[in-house]
Amino acid sequence: MAKSSYEQRGSVLEVENLSLSYDGKTIIKDISFTVLDTVKVGSTQGQTVAFVGRSGRGKSTLFRALSGLEQPSTGTVKICDMGKFNGDNAHIPLKPVHEGDVGFVDQKYTLFRHKTVTQALHFAMRKSNLSEQEKTDKINVHLEAWGLKNVRNQYPNELSGGQRQRTAILEQLLSSGNFIILDEPFSGLDVGNIESVKKAFNLINGSHELNTVLFSTHDIELAIELADSIYVVGHPRLSSGELAAHGTILKHFDLKEMGLAWSTEFNGEHQALAKEIKTAMLAS
Ligand SMILES: Nc1ncnc2c1ncn2[C@@H]1O[C@H](COP(=O)(O)OP(=O)(O)OP(=O)(O)O)[C@@H](O)[C@H]1O
Ligand SMILES: [Mg+2]
Repeated sequence: MAKSSYEQRGSVLEVENLSLSYDGKTIIKDISFTVLDTVKVGSTQGQTVAFVGRSGRGKSTLFRALSGLEQPSTGTVKICDMGKFNGDNAHIPLKPVHEGDVGFVDQKYTLFRHKTVTQALHFAMRKSNLSEQEKTDKINVHLEAWGLKNVRNQYPNELSGGQRQRTAILEQLLSSGNFIILDEPFSGLDVGNIESVKKAFNLINGSHELNTVLFSTHDIELAIELADSIYVVGHPRLSSGELAAHGTILKHFDLKEMGLAWSTEFNGEHQALAKEIKTAMLAS
């Protein structure tokens, strides 16, 4: 099978020496990584990055720091500054992240109780420069594409878990632009909902070159299927042989480089990678 050819341009996310402590207890430490804009000739290709790791290793904590919801104890998080982006993706301007810059959907996918799906999406677009008619048109296109057209006038308590989930993702997408972080977007969903959210990933990825999705999951196969890059978060082993009490990035798998990204099949190489990732997780 021919490997997908691609190129990498400027960075859309730069994380340097990040650490975060709660009440003097270090939760995550020594976290540095960069996400580059990936370009594929002939198609719009966003970035999809998965974070996997055992429970309590710091994935959600890392996400709160990446989205600006939590001030890190050390280090910096910089994301692309769309306001200054002039289309030259070899030189993408960056800015320190602030709360609200990044769409963040936590596992509870909280929605406004008193707003219908359509009302919530209009509210999400309140800061947009589009006219009311343009907003309505855009929302309608999304409602159709995300399978929410039939429930557009329903309130959160009248939605299924998967419909709530997709509304929450869409809300973040419409309000925050090109960067979205999803904490365990697949947990608790049925096979059909999982397919819808997978489709949502592809929609996000295909709609703007700089669109970047970061997500966490306990489903390693799903991470491999969807992501073009996977980070394993875990407790590092100290020189004493014991595991440290803080989380950090232990391994990075670049599926593009390995020729495993954007694949239509899950082959033996994907299976071998799943095994390697699980082994790394179990040891941390
Ligand atoms: N607000 C907080 N105050 C103190 N400790 C916290 C706080 N939030 C999280 N922690 C601790 O930080 C560690 C990492 O938690 P975190 O939620 O980031 O893990 P996780 O990798 O997302 O786990 P899971 O896979 O179960 O969601 C845990 O030991 C947790 O108890
Ligand atoms: Mg978590």
